[in-house]
Amino acid sequence: MKESEAAVTGLGWSAPIEPVDAGTARRGILWQHAQIRAFLEKARAVADLALDGKVSPADAVASAIGDLRSMMEVHLTFEEKVLIPLFNVDFPIGPRRVALLLDEHKRQRGVLADLHLEARSYPLLPTLAAKLAFLTSWLLTEMLEEERSMKKMKDDDASEKADGASGGGHGLEE
Ligand SMILES: [Fe+2]
Ligand SMILES: [Fe+2]
Repeated sequence: MKESEAAVTGLGWSAPIEPVDAGTARRGILWQHAQIRAFLEKARAVADLALDGKVSPADAVASAIGDLRSMMEVHLTFEEKVLIPLFNVDFPIGPRRVALLLDEHKRQRGVLADLHLEARSYPLLPTLAAKLAFLTSWLLTEMLEEERSMKKMKDDDASEKADGASGGGHGLEE
């Protein structure tokens, strides 16, 4: 991460030790989503090349899967660290939001772990490319959904955060 980018979010990739307000949480998550999107674009290109039989080195797909899992693990931990404290003070729906977030993250971690295990065991497996391509599309959709649900979070402080629990993602929408 560049210094200037870290200054914009104040957080970068590291999960903050102290609780942050809703605006800081949202900005931090959106910044990370932008980095993840850029990586997903490259990973998708690697997968497409592999599907055409043109990828080099031969284990590029397996390597991209490992990198993606590492990046997502940092991101999911970050979201949990910044969002759960905000949800927990938001009665009565906060605990439900926490449960939804953790459930969604468990699913994502499971999919990433399974594919990574396969990639480590059989790095040259031809089907890895198709699975990586699917994974990139799925994660892009999941991020869009999260962003829709976060877009009404206020910029100033937790007391102004959005209300309501309908819809998908993390349920931050009004
Ligand atoms: Fe998430
Ligand atoms: Fe996210």
